Amino acid sequence: MARKKVTIVGAGMTGGAMAQRLIERDVCDVVLQDDPQFAGTMHFGKALDESQAAAWSGFSASIRATDGWDETAGSDVVVVTAGAPRRPGMSREELLNGNAAIVRDKAGAAAAASPGAVLVVFSNPMDAMCHVALEASGFPPARVIGQGGALDSARYRHFVAEAAGVSPQDVHGYVIGGHTDTTMVPVVSQTRVGGVPLTSLLPAETIAEVVARTMRGGAEIAELLRTGSAFQAPSAGTIAMVAAILLDQRRLLPCSTLHRGEYGIEGVFSGTVVQLGEGGVQRAFELELSDEERARVVAAAEATRSLVAQLA
Ligand code: 2OP
Repeated sequence: MARKKVTIVGAGMTGGAMAQRLIERDVCDVVLQDDPQFAGTMHFGKALDESQAAAWSGFSASIRATDGWDETAGSDVVVVTAGAPRRPGMSREELLNGNAAIVRDKAGAAAAASPGAVLVVFSNPMDAMCHVALEASGFPPARVIGQGGALDSARYRHFVAEAAGVSPQDVHGYVIGGHTDTTMVPVVSQTRVGGVPLTSLLPAETIAEVVARTMRGGAEIAELLRTGSAFQAPSAGTIAMVAAILLDQRRLLPCSTLHRGEYGIEGVFSGTVVQLGEGGVQRAFELELSDEERARVVAAAEATRSLVAQLA
């Protein structure tokens, strides 16, 4: 049986970290696609360097780079991470039209080479970029999924775990809504730590600090790194999604998906918990929210709708 194949479009810091995490799982071949005018030969360097890690990292799958699309043909999953990252002081929304042109181009070419693939969109502003990828690919909505909630939820779980003094693996909490500093919604009312409601475990002020730090999570890292945005937690979140799809794990992960009535939202990409497996989004769930959380989720979708309206 032929090995599954995943293409990562964009070989920058995030694409490179994703490629490493994925190839070291040894569940698929990996192709790193980038353009010589942006990347020079960097993608070839990253693929060759990672290939040479195989003997000690223990994988047999192959990782190759390409400037074109032939090598990507027949991919099961394509991750689109091409485009500019946010820099310190910048919002994700400021990247809108610059990244839309790149995502349109890349998603169209990727879909032509791999018409049966699932597209995982990482480029920012991510929810709006999902609309661009949906249109450029012509794929059904189940096969266009945005990564943002997995990352934001990972940050949230880290800060909760730190405040509670427990392992992040035992924090069950989701961040839904939009993937921007102002529109993401950490769902405090449903967060459990080892089954215990977060609201009975930590004081309200501590929870408010955790929520605020989660919402500025990407900005905080960009300020600290100075040269670009986060890539470790983002790549971990993305590869969890890719593995769920490739291996038909049917995991319930917070992702951006085209809403069809969830929370009363129609026709906009926004974050909620979805079941990810073969073919992409198999089911979308609506969480039970407080009135305030629900209003913020609806406002997040409206903010994405107006960003999409600003697309050139
Ligand atoms: C972040 O939140 C890059 O959007 C990404 O770090």
